[in-house]
Amino acid sequence: MALLIKNGEIVTASDRYIADIFCESETITRIGRDLQAPPGAEVIDATGKYVFPGFIDPHVHIYLPFMGTFAKDTHATASQAALVGGTTTFIEMICPARGDQPMEAFELWLGKAQGQSACDFTFHMGVTRYDSDAESQLKEIVSRGLSSFKIFLAYKGAFGVTDEELYHTLRLAKKLGVITTAHCENADLVLELQKRLLSEGKTGPEWHHESRPPLVEAEGVHHLITFAEMHNAHIYIVHLSCEEALREAVAGKYRGVNVWVETLIQYLLTDKTDAEKPNFEGAKFVMSPPLRDKRNQPILWNGLRTGLISTLATDHAPFDFATQKIMGKGDFTKIPNGIPSLEDRVNAFYTYGVAQGRVDLHRFVDAGSTQAAKLFGLFPRKGTIQLGSDADLVIYDPKYRGKISAKTHAMNVDYNAFEGMEISGRPSVVTVRGQVAVQEGKFIGDKSRGQFLQREPSHF
Ligand code: URP
Ligand code: ZN
Ligand code: ZN
Repeated sequence: MALLIKNGEIVTASDRYIADIFCESETITRIGRDLQAPPGAEVIDATGKYVFPGFIDPHVHIYLPFMGTFAKDTHATASQAALVGGTTTFIEMICPARGDQPMEAFELWLGKAQGQSACDFTFHMGVTRYDSDAESQLKEIVSRGLSSFKIFLAYKGAFGVTDEELYHTLRLAKKLGVITTAHCENADLVLELQKRLLSEGKTGPEWHHESRPPLVEAEGVHHLITFAEMHNAHIYIVHLSCEEALREAVAGKYRGVNVWVETLIQYLLTDKTDAEKPNFEGAKFVMSPPLRDKRNQPILWNGLRTGLISTLATDHAPFDFATQKIMGKGDFTKIPNGIPSLEDRVNAFYTYGVAQGRVDLHRFVDAGSTQAAKLFGLFPRKGTIQLGSDADLVIYDPKYRGKISAKTHAMNVDYNAFEGMEISGRPSVVTVRGQVAVQEGKFIGDKSRGQFLQREPSHF
């Protein structure tokens, strides 16, 4: 059915104006004033509301075998939670074990998502082993529509790659025109620090930060940039958490390295004292790189405001407190790493960014949607509002007031790291390719509408 959205204030990364939007055959076909609805079209009055392009989360884990367990969400629960929160596209990490075949992993992850997701999706291909066999499979996976890799410098013995593998992955990425996303922490330093802390009887979640201090992350960023510079490869640093790491990334940019930076909503709103909460509550806030000292937060906000940090993601990785986080009681190195946040990113970014004057509306859209679309080959199909773009739209009510809570969230996890936080604004209506999926905080859409988005390499 055709859809006409009337009188909304359209906001993109570059423009802001009041107009009507007409959507037909899944895309935006007309934008203008006083558009008339043809018979049978659905009409939504967006007076007093913003209309944003659907938000894109470029770093999500849904099917994730990790640290002896599996992340809790399914593609059904995660995609519906994403939509309720205004995210209409996510990029999930395919994370095969070292011994797995890349092509089998690709098929496995694709099979888990296809027909199960309410919103559109694509993947970064995790490279967790590099040899000639993996290389030929990676080439085929790129030809099947994945134009980004993911590597881990951390998690030695699990997802982590050696320097030799890093060298060859980046060389292949350059050759194929693929951007490589990377988790940057020095794995050997983490292992040594973990061993030392445990031997000193320091076993609680409050020690997680000490096992992965800012220097460990900064070294990882420097290391990645050095290797990328060798090949003139394009790299994207995921979940950057602190000033030390940002300085290394900026130094790389200054030298002309093609490096982009992502930070997470968790680093902006929670900090290392959360992981120090008593009675093992701190385990809810254990992720890697760890939540940092609060002094980093204004630096990350400034990075987002100025564009030194391109994107704001979630690294959504939901593990229940009662049955999964608890696996690390008595040994913080066994706490499944991750903080769920897919549903809350957009509202929290709007509330603490736009409404509190830290970023303007355009950077909000840019960092929450447009930059991810541009970096990962989805633009202008996604990430903006223009003729021909997919009609993924968020009609946003800035007058809404509420609180985040696990009692009301749609994510399939038993806690919320932002429990009790005030929200000023939320999506009133969310559409997926022209069809209404969310109305006033409730998913009402087609549970299997989501499509796999195939992406072309950039040939940079
Ligand atoms: O702690 C985290 N970040 N968990 C998810 C896996 C990863 O490192 O991205
Ligand atoms: Zn990571
Ligand atoms: Zn991640």
